[in-house]
Amino acid sequence: QDQLKQAVGQAAVDLLLPDLEDSSIIGIGTGSTANCFIDALAKHKGFFDGAVASSEATAARLKEHGIPVYELNNVFELAFYIDGADETNRHLELIKGGGAALTREKIVAAVAKTFICIADDSKLVDTLGSFPLPVEVIPMARSHVAREIVKLGGDPVYRDGCVTDNGNVILDVHNMQIHDPRKLEDQLNSIVGVVCNGLFAHRPADILLLGTSSGVETLKR
Ligand code: A5P
Repeated sequence: QDQLKQAVGQAAVDLLLPDLEDSSIIGIGTGSTANCFIDALAKHKGFFDGAVASSEATAARLKEHGIPVYELNNVFELAFYIDGADETNRHLELIKGGGAALTREKIVAAVAKTFICIADDSKLVDTLGSFPLPVEVIPMARSHVAREIVKLGGDPVYRDGCVTDNGNVILDVHNMQIHDPRKLEDQLNSIVGVVCNGLFAHRPADILLLGTSSGVETLKR
């Protein structure tokens, strides 16, 4: 699986390179697959300006490679966002947040013109929900949000010891077959105390580079 992650990281660099300019700033996500992309991208430092990071961990890795990291508020345009996922369906709707970076990931993805998701084929499912859906919650609202999630049919589990980059906590929602991802994304967002949930249905990926044992497949929306 490491090889598949490296293959999709390299495939994303190959896809981007022709469109990069000296002034290009790239949105970059979080996780082991995004790290493979960063490592492959670092070999082409002269071809773009810098990056916006979706987490402190990604910002640190970019800086280690000598890639300038910009604040999103100071960036006028973001042509591309590249990130992994915990699950994807064939509509390129995603579950993200296994690394607890879902809120910043969703913000950077919202700004970017094109979202390229990179994943190995173990992440592709028919119906989202086998991977527990992460929900970022304001700490004092944790119990309230958990009770509301039970009413929606899920089993929320507090991610012990996890504090997000925004100072919040994570509830992982188990045992949900998500047949209408957009609806559930809205329902979770309307619970007071929820900061963000890991469903990327209103803003799915535009392109999925899927690593398989026979090569990288490209799926488009
Ligand atoms: C981070 O919060 C997540 O959204 C990651 O994108 C996701 O967990 C994928 O991580 P891996 O690439 O490590 O599987």
